[in-house]
Amino acid sequence: MIRLGLFCVAVFLLSEGVDGLFDTQGPSFVVEPPPRLEFTNSRGGRVDCQAEGNPDPMVDWVAADGSPLSVIPGVRMPMGNGTLIFPPFQAEIYRQDVHAAVYKCVATNAVGSIVSRDVVVKAEINQAWI
Ligand SMILES: *[C@@H]1O[C@H](CO)[C@@H](O)[C@H](O)[C@H]1NC(C)=O
Repeated sequence: MIRLGLFCVAVFLLSEGVDGLFDTQGPSFVVEPPPRLEFTNSRGGRVDCQAEGNPDPMVDWVAADGSPLSVIPGVRMPMGNGTLIFPPFQAEIYRQDVHAAVYKCVATNAVGSIVSRDVVVKAEINQAWI
């Protein structure tokens, strides 16, 4: 029984690779967001951010001052997978603090944390959208 147990551990180490278990690595961007995102209220916009590392990093969006973004349903939706979505919106709900603002992407794992360049977001009102 003990022998079988040791055998299983050995097979596990071989198949996982010692590197995979012990070689932790800080996050780095695979897709760093662009410096600007412009969109119209009738189309909406989205911006992606992806990072890798070991363990897998969490990717999040923050405001210019580093504070976490609140979800504003139908207006500003961080998806949790690194994508930040600004759905199409009616002119009346334009919000300067959301639609003309600076955002940053942050990737964090147990080793550390990295912050993207500033992303300047600018929404133009092109028509009443119904
Ligand atoms: C994240 O999720 C959203 C909504 O489900 C999807 O549209 C988007 O493509 C995803 N982003 C990535 C990078 O997979």
